[in-house]
Amino acid sequence: MKSKPVLIDTDIGVDDAMALVLALNSPELSIKAITTVAGNVDVTKCTRNVERILNLLNIQDRPIVAEGASRPLRLPLVKASEVHGKDGLGDASAFLPQPRKSKHPSAVETILRCCDQYGSRLTIVAIGPLTNLALAWKKNPRVMKKVGRIITMGGAIRVPGNTGPVAEFNYFVDPDAAHIVLNSGVPVTVIPLDVTHQVVVMRKEMEYRAKRRASLAALAVLKFTESYMRYHLDTQGFNGGYLHDPMAVGVAIDPSLVKTRNVHVDVESKGAFTRGMTVTDLQEHHNPSQSTVDVAVAIDRERFLRLFHDRLWK
Ligand code: BDR
Ligand code: CA
Repeated sequence: MKSKPVLIDTDIGVDDAMALVLALNSPELSIKAITTVAGNVDVTKCTRNVERILNLLNIQDRPIVAEGASRPLRLPLVKASEVHGKDGLGDASAFLPQPRKSKHPSAVETILRCCDQYGSRLTIVAIGPLTNLALAWKKNPRVMKKVGRIITMGGAIRVPGNTGPVAEFNYFVDPDAAHIVLNSGVPVTVIPLDVTHQVVVMRKEMEYRAKRRASLAALAVLKFTESYMRYHLDTQGFNGGYLHDPMAVGVAIDPSLVKTRNVHVDVESKGAFTRGMTVTDLQEHHNPSQSTVDVAVAIDRERFLRLFHDRLWK
């Protein structure tokens, strides 16, 4: 089986870190580059976290690690350290290998270079705010159009938001960037809260699997997910966590995990109460002049969780 060339754009974050482990342990994907963007934490912390995960998994054939935007296109940065810890890894980064000191190329250049090099074979999995992708699009739309597909975790189509009443975090942080990417006309799959809120992983199961595996990597995963799960216990009432970003990687591995609808989705960036809200045209006959994207509307929960655990504890 030939593996798909993939670029991951991330504001790593606890669920982003699980998504990276899933991606790097999956033979269907060949991770060519990981680009970082400000979101859950500052971008410099994101870059260090990516290096930590690569070291933890002892990745020999290292993807390019590139650093991107330190703030959204127009609005000030909003972070989520109450969910992901001050370091972005549940304040457990001391338990992970230290990042090595290296110079990182620019995320926008790396995105454009990968689009140029791999063309329609390339999948971009974007699991943070879409700032880097929007900047790459503004810089060179002709080259960006070569990408095979962008899978973006973001939006809340018919469900409440997780950042205020109507918005999902990634699109809330940079609604202008989300607007640009969703209207670019390149093939896009949106993985919104509608599907990511249908799957949780329970703390008990994480503990059971990590202890059975008992590798350094498994115990580190257990450690850096601890406070993320405590946050869910305090705010949602269950002892576990959502798998937002791992689901986007899951769909890159196996697109048949989700059922999608092809619709026009836009993102509100000017509203006084609706910043980052996704506005979706669910009518059967949408305006043909508007570009459409594939929105995930259902997820095969059992099959996704099986894939997640199979790869996370490898
Ligand atoms: C998204 O927001 C971030 O906090 C998570 O990493 C995920 O990408 C979920 O709304
Ligand atoms: Ca994320």
